[in-house]
Amino acid sequence: MQQTAPARDKWGSKVGFVLAAAGSAIGLGNIWRFPYVTGENGGAAFVLIYIFFVVIIGTPVMISEITIGRRAEKNPVGAFRHIVPGSAWWLFGILCVVTGIGILSYYSVIAGWTLGYFFKTLGGSFAQITTPDASNRMFEQFVANPQIVIGLLLIFITLTMIVVMGGVSSGIERWAKILMPILFLLLILLTLRSVTLPGAGKGLQFYLKPDFSVINAGTIGRALGQAMFSLSLGMGAMITYGSYISRRENIVISAGYVCLFDTLIAIVAGLMIFPALFAMGMDPQGGPGLVFIVLPTIFAKMPGGDFFGAGFFLLLTVAALTSTISLLEVAVAYLVDERKWQRRRAAVTMGALALVLGVPSALSFGGISFLTELPLLGIGFLDLANIVLGNYSLTLGALLISLFVGYRWGVARVREEIEQHDNVFYFRPLFAVLIRYVCPVAILCIFVYIVLTGNYF
Ligand code: PHE
Repeated sequence: MQQTAPARDKWGSKVGFVLAAAGSAIGLGNIWRFPYVTGENGGAAFVLIYIFFVVIIGTPVMISEITIGRRAEKNPVGAFRHIVPGSAWWLFGILCVVTGIGILSYYSVIAGWTLGYFFKTLGGSFAQITTPDASNRMFEQFVANPQIVIGLLLIFITLTMIVVMGGVSSGIERWAKILMPILFLLLILLTLRSVTLPGAGKGLQFYLKPDFSVINAGTIGRALGQAMFSLSLGMGAMITYGSYISRRENIVISAGYVCLFDTLIAIVAGLMIFPALFAMGMDPQGGPGLVFIVLPTIFAKMPGGDFFGAGFFLLLTVAALTSTISLLEVAVAYLVDERKWQRRRAAVTMGALALVLGVPSALSFGGISFLTELPLLGIGFLDLANIVLGNYSLTLGALLISLFVGYRWGVARVREEIEQHDNVFYFRPLFAVLIRYVCPVAILCIFVYIVLTGNYF
């Protein structure tokens, strides 16, 4: 075939997409957010609801997003303009771009913390952590220091910009292939240490024995939002990544792998945190600081704890980086495809914007008291961003995707796109029911339930 325009970038290998998409999905959402949100929402019952949502809403929405992206070979705004020209659906693409930059802004703050904790472990700081109180104090001092947290935020966003400037390179794919398995092995090792601590049983019970009496509208909404966040859905990351995928790949299988890996890592992360947490007599409702306070207490109780601690935080930083790349890539692909910007300029501009927007989040842990506890809401700025953008905006995005595929574009189009090159659309009838009825109805009911009960946070 003759190529008139320069070819758009594509993933370098057949598994490239799964690796990159798993890289996007697996990140702080699994290891930082999942345990603390589970802790705040009652443990095992929350975990079950979370898994249920991954299966009935996450997987079909994942398949839909990838298919839309591959059909259009474009960023979210361009994709909707391309497949339903003349309609207002491109506005949803704009929402994706805005949500992506918003999430990037606060996500990079936490990623900066992981980087900071990596340096701390290298410096042997955890040797002094003998009690949970000491760990708590160390964390509180660390996050309340404006120069440090903003400096780390700057470093982290710069790293993200550098990778995104390079384009859809096989670099990300190659590194993800090597580093992700190492992260998983370390996670298992720490889990083994955690579950064998004296007193770990109570944590296992909290994490594995459901108590449904703690469930309310807010909890259910958080479980759904967490599923969307962890799978990188509802803001066009998978549309954008899907746009670089080869037509030979079976989207259903790829999506299935991404959902499976992502969920496994989150579940193991919980097994690592809760037994240790209860063994130390700490409070599961510790909020965003949870893993940063619990983990050092495990490292302190391990031979070679500094070594494992440093390795763990470094890998976590890398896992966060493969996620922030996808957050930035959505806005960059939009500017490059639609506005004909140079990739470099787009990456630097959007990165700078995320940096500025990230400052209030960075200062919301004691740096500035107004941001630490917002008037009327009683929660911090980062918490608020994490709920509004990382929970509700993504859930709304998933609702819009299911309505778009179910009623505007049509399951028949999805089938056409998936069944190329002899690929089979596994579970097609089930997909049709889920995307047309189950996803929109479930999401709408949850929204209504939350509004009626006022359980927004
Ligand atoms: N899924 C990522 C994580 O779990 C975060 C993310 C959300 C990335 C939305 C892209 C889009 O860390």
